Amino acid sequence: MSVTERMFVSKNLSVNEKGHLVIGKNDTVELAEKFGTPLYVVDEELVRENCRVYKNAMDKYYGGRGLVLYASKAFCAKYIYRVVKEEGLGIDVVSGGELYTALKADFPMDKVYFHGNNKTVGELEMAVENGVGNIIVDNIYELERLNEIAKAHGVVQDIMFRIKPGVDAHTHSFIRTGQIDSKFGVALENGEAFEICKRASEMPNVRVNGIHCHIGSQIFDIEPFCEAAEIMMNFAGDIKDELGIEIEKLNLGGGYGIRYTPQDDPVPYDDYIKHVSEVVKAAARKRGVKLPFILMEPGRSIIAPAGITLYTVGGIKDIKNVRKYVSVDGGMGDNPRYILYESEYDAVAANKADAPKTEKVTIAGKCCESGDLLIKDIMLPELHVGDTLAVLATGAYNYSMASNYNRIPRPAVAAVSDGKAEIVVKRESYEDLIRNDL
Ligand code: LLP
Repeated sequence: MSVTERMFVSKNLSVNEKGHLVIGKNDTVELAEKFGTPLYVVDEELVRENCRVYKNAMDKYYGGRGLVLYASKAFCAKYIYRVVKEEGLGIDVVSGGELYTALKADFPMDKVYFHGNNKTVGELEMAVENGVGNIIVDNIYELERLNEIAKAHGVVQDIMFRIKPGVDAHTHSFIRTGQIDSKFGVALENGEAFEICKRASEMPNVRVNGIHCHIGSQIFDIEPFCEAAEIMMNFAGDIKDELGIEIEKLNLGGGYGIRYTPQDDPVPYDDYIKHVSEVVKAAARKRGVKLPFILMEPGRSIIAPAGITLYTVGGIKDIKNVRKYVSVDGGMGDNPRYILYESEYDAVAANKADAPKTEKVTIAGKCCESGDLLIKDIMLPELHVGDTLAVLATGAYNYSMASNYNRIPRPAVAAVSDGKAEIVVKRESYEDLIRNDL
């Protein structure tokens, strides 16, 4: 482990001779001065490296018989679709808006997997018209609509089913999805999954080519993924034996955990594929089904560690014997993860990144909401008005979940690579905020 790896939660960060935090060979204080704050920064080289780790693992452990899909709900913009396209990944989209963005980025539609527990008729039509490679059907109602839409367009649509494997992953209850009590997909336990496969096999305009599960997000153990893979392969065996449906693709979702704080200890990404591949191979032999093409859908683990958010420190309130609040020029509008999940983050005083951490402070946002915090109780050097603060590992589910609460414009996104920085998403203006007001 290098010195910087031990210093920071993300391995792409270092400190230069001025004591400034550096990302992708860019001085973060200069980035803040040049582009303004708050500013999302994405280290493109690390995004690409993460894509390659997954891709190489698929080649090494599963003979390349698989495709890694970037789950774009983690961070969606035309820019990222261009990057993952260049890296040879497919994508998971979950709404007409994400699909539209991918279309505008010229993403190859055959590598698009369309998810969602309540896709509208309009969204399904959009997917079929644009030749989306695979639609992950969530329920019977959607199956019926899709069959009608495909018929009206004179096509047979490839589909997969979202299955709840009954695996309870150890993560926050809001991001746990594999158990029967979940709004996503059809359950195995009560026969729903079997029934929907049977119904689809009788429909002329859909073709079941696979099954899908996603057990949750920010998961640190390999066990639940292996358990889910085995359950899914057994189901593949059941539908082959009883319905004569032989699946071609097994999509095992995403959810691999990352390091947000020094206490987090994630599994190396390629280990997931290594272990899950073994389970799939063994189960295929045992159940006499052909080895499926595997799909995996990492979102957070590709983009989160590559991102940071830069803020400028404003008002500071030292409430004696209570708490010291340091307010920054952003907050829940650009990072709602504390207010939603009480998520933990690490931060660095970017203009004095090697200064000793002498004070316990709470980083507050600027919204009219007491819960609008970014980090509760973190040790940092003494901060002053005008300092630059970097919150780390913010690449996933920050920009994509940002809002205009309090009519605060969303920040810009700058991509850095090899010492160069460019804006890939413009900062919203006040004019943007009233664009739809009549
Ligand atoms: N595939 C499916 C079907 C999913 O629903 C998700 C995430 C993923 C893949 C990607 O999971 P990842 O590798 O990014 O963990 N807003 C929450 C996370 C919600 C995750 C939703 N689904 C957060 O900020 O933690």
